[in-house]
Amino acid sequence: MSASNSEDALKSALRSSVARGSMMNKEIKGLTLDEVRDALYTLLPDNPEFVRKHIIEPFYVSDDDYKKVYKSLAENLEAGLDDTKHHTATLKMWPSYVRDLPDGTETGTFLALDFGSHHLKAEVVSLDHGKYEVDSMNGFVPEKILLHGDGEKLFDYLANFLHRFLKRSGLLNTTDRLPLGFTFAFPCKRLAINKAILTRWTKNLHCDGVVGEDVVAMLQAAIERRGEMNIECVASVNDTVGTLMSGAQEDPKCAIGVILSKGVNACYMEQLEKVGTWTEKQSDLPNQVVIDTEWSEFGDDGCLDFFRNDYDKMIDENHHKGKAIFEKMISGQYLGEIVRLVLEKMNDSDVLFQDHWTKELGTRNRFYTKYVSEILSEEDIRFIHTRKVLEDLHVPLVVELECRVIHHICQIVSTRAATLVAIGIACLLDRINKSEAGIAVDGALYRFHPLFKDLLNAKIPQFLQTDKKFWLVQSADRSGKGAAMAAAVTERLHRKNDDSKQETVQENDKVTEVKNDEEPQNESSTNDESNTPVSEDTK
Ligand code: BGC
Repeated sequence: MSASNSEDALKSALRSSVARGSMMNKEIKGLTLDEVRDALYTLLPDNPEFVRKHIIEPFYVSDDDYKKVYKSLAENLEAGLDDTKHHTATLKMWPSYVRDLPDGTETGTFLALDFGSHHLKAEVVSLDHGKYEVDSMNGFVPEKILLHGDGEKLFDYLANFLHRFLKRSGLLNTTDRLPLGFTFAFPCKRLAINKAILTRWTKNLHCDGVVGEDVVAMLQAAIERRGEMNIECVASVNDTVGTLMSGAQEDPKCAIGVILSKGVNACYMEQLEKVGTWTEKQSDLPNQVVIDTEWSEFGDDGCLDFFRNDYDKMIDENHHKGKAIFEKMISGQYLGEIVRLVLEKMNDSDVLFQDHWTKELGTRNRFYTKYVSEILSEEDIRFIHTRKVLEDLHVPLVVELECRVIHHICQIVSTRAATLVAIGIACLLDRINKSEAGIAVDGALYRFHPLFKDLLNAKIPQFLQTDKKFWLVQSADRSGKGAAMAAAVTERLHRKNDDSKQETVQENDKVTEVKNDEEPQNESSTNDESNTPVSEDTK
């Protein structure tokens, strides 16, 4: 620490010993990272070496290193779209087969099922030219199914949940088929809008017999097994895509969808000519497709190892080792655990807690990410939220020093996470061919973490390499409504495609009729439009 820094730190210590009320409040809220670092040195004056080695160095990433992350991510995004590199690329950049965003003309009744981990949501969405009404039901999938069950049981559980919802909504045994949009928030290789092959589980889920299978077919089969439901799963989307659809319905300028929850991921609208892996024949559909980046897997090839710290490595050891490296530094599944590991290190090194350490604090994954959000929502130095959290973790005596240190650690860990997301969003903004774009964001980490939004707004411009205007749009109705929108847009585009095919057929019929009518008058007539001679057959 430089002389001036230690002087500042001393001043800060003096201030903290006398200050009360709003003065103290200021010392906890709104501190810059440098101020947080100085405060930690001050709070733990006997352990500067520990602070440097186990807190500052692991989490304070230099601007140059962050720039390297940007560069590497930009290359990874490109490689995933390149058909010559895709098979070895870390980011799969799956085309979602969603070819358009809502244009406000979508109309009809659509079902949505949103499955992203433990949480489950079913919705019926009535769309009427831009207006919509949603009725929804929330549920949970039991851990025993998610962690130890098999696929058939999981999908039977989902179908039963849908059945309960339809019964409640009076929609069992309908004569009309109900189109369903299925949000499945895991990495899938998509072969069509309604064909999605699970490539692997994330978010620490294990459920046999699903990887390598088409999850839409599995859901449809379970719906048929359950019976009494006239449902057809017409579209399946990743939750980022659902979020983008839902965001675009509210703000047509949305072009990027981001999820920050137990998992992290992003999607964006890409021009087809930039998607080397796109093999579909050109059709009348718009010349674009939403790409599911699956950026949770960024770093799985070791490209982020240069700044990963020991805590990141410990997390990795215990959760799908070697997979989803980017996600493990950011998501709600892991942020709390990172904080807990730092606290554990402090306790093991006799830097903090002494006889206050508890079994709960020492239990893996027991320091939930929601605690991080609660601690950072602290309004004043009474540390009401932090004390509650520590009581929940059975800490017998809560002292102010611990509250302060924990608060600072939560801020440091969260700032690194938000900076990495900002780099990701900046990369996507730089890719899209628009001068301005809305970014639809959803997920508990974004909604409940008090600093994330501000950190993103502050940090995205630091990494942008093009002159882009952006704004964050909090998607109002999660990705469920988005799946219904995806189903609606799919139906709209199909209808349009069918209509234009129908028109072409009618046009051709007309031409044939005209030709036939003309035949007797002019046997050697030519087709004016194409200037090709009338074939022998037509004659
Ligand atoms: C999954 C993504 C998903 C994200 C957010 C990640 O673990 O791989 O498909 O979009 O979590 O739910």
